[in-house]
Amino acid sequence: MEVVKAFIFDLDGVLVSTDEQHYKAWKSLADCLGIPFSRKDNEAFRGVSRMSCMDKLAAISGRQFTKQEKTDCATWKNEQYRRLLDSLSPADLSPDVKTTLDMLRAGGLLLAVGSSSKNARYILARIGLGDYFDAVCDGTNIAKSKPDPEVFLKAAQMLKVLPSQSIVVEDAVAGLQAAKAAGMTACAIGGAISSPLADIRIKYFSELVQYVERINDEKVF
Ligand code: BG6
Ligand code: MG
Repeated sequence: MEVVKAFIFDLDGVLVSTDEQHYKAWKSLADCLGIPFSRKDNEAFRGVSRMSCMDKLAAISGRQFTKQEKTDCATWKNEQYRRLLDSLSPADLSPDVKTTLDMLRAGGLLLAVGSSSKNARYILARIGLGDYFDAVCDGTNIAKSKPDPEVFLKAAQMLKVLPSQSIVVEDAVAGLQAAKAAGMTACAIGGAISSPLADIRIKYFSELVQYVERINDEKVF
């Protein structure tokens, strides 16, 4: 690949472990509606927009939901989710993530968030990263959610870098699909690590620093 100029990070499940709260909120809704919903079902909910998740839940139920019912259910789910986020604090930002972000920045790299979530800015503020990133592209400024590449292409535009100079870090298969469709390098972590779509696989965030040094052939720190 060309010289790496930027990282675009997914939020939920990458920068912070909010994927569990998403699961719990969808599970409460499913229980209320009498719909069977497992952690395995939740896998397909990762990375995709709230309404796409609601469509998937409706498909699992096998029932017909009106547009209004789906909107009401998704709103209710979001209320549960926001309640679960109440306890989120800077202590939920892992030292590995924060140190790595600081090192990449010190090495001259641009850093962005590319998330499907409409709660992204709220979450970033709660974990103490409210003003940290050079760009934040999220569910509030995109028309199409992952696996569409829009969120990552817009983030790269905001940073004024080319897709080929950008690495996306993702924990969801839909996110890896979006990164590849955007023409970016796809780095998988967590739940997406075994996906064949990944160009790079990391167990720990700090591995990103060595990766950039290898490609750019210079010390990042
Ligand atoms: C993604 C999550 O980051 O955001 C998905 O991985 C979620 O599970 C999506 O559905 C939308 O989130 P929100 O906060 O707008 O409901
Ligand atoms: Mg994610």
